[in-house]
Amino acid sequence: MAKEKDLKKAFDQHVQLEEFFTGFTIKGSQESGQPVNDYVIAQFAQIAAEVNACRKCQLGNMRTNPVPGEGNLNADIVFVGEGPGADEDAQGRPFVGRAGKLLDKIIAAMGLKRAEVYICNIIKCRPPGNRDPRPDEIISCLPFLKRQLELIKPKIIVTLGAPATRTLLETNKPIGQLRGKFHDFYLEDFSAPIKLMPTYHPAYLLRNYSHENRQRVWEDMKTVLAELGLEVPKDKK
Ligand code: URA
Repeated sequence: MAKEKDLKKAFDQHVQLEEFFTGFTIKGSQESGQPVNDYVIAQFAQIAAEVNACRKCQLGNMRTNPVPGEGNLNADIVFVGEGPGADEDAQGRPFVGRAGKLLDKIIAAMGLKRAEVYICNIIKCRPPGNRDPRPDEIISCLPFLKRQLELIKPKIIVTLGAPATRTLLETNKPIGQLRGKFHDFYLEDFSAPIKLMPTYHPAYLLRNYSHENRQRVWEDMKTVLAELGLEVPKDKK
């Protein structure tokens, strides 16, 4: 009986979490219509080919498909997750599993389309059994992400979860301390820093359902929209 109650509670919480980020109108406020420079397109194709051939760490021999990233090469916002899971490994696309569905809802709640942003990870190949990426794997893979960020030069990077946040900010601080405010992320080309907003990973939200946690993510996303001068949707009653 207690088990049934727990299951019912988990189910209700999941439904509420799904509903929280649903029902906002997609306005397409950030147009992806600007032409992308041919050089950038060619460089992204080159990066994808290099990721495909990469065996700098053991993950290259273990994955089904590499997951370099996808989206708008002119994006103002780049979302950076941890690494591909089973669904992403099967499809070669980032954030297409359960956590990805929630990320899609968060993006839609922001009034944006998935195709208007760029989505990728700090590592491009799936660690077996979804374990955390190891430091040597991150070190081997990070140059790909840095090249992607240098080409897109987004206005804002949103890091999803502790591994992505700690890697890009080179810190060991807890995500709870880092999220909610902008940090400076420096590209290696010495251009002006990019604003980086850490927030909780959608998979963490799915596992640690609470009104506070989902509201925190939503506050972080509203801060991002305000910084870009985009309309900040009103909270649902
Ligand atoms: N989790 C991640 O961090 N990245 C993905 O692409 C999917 C799930």
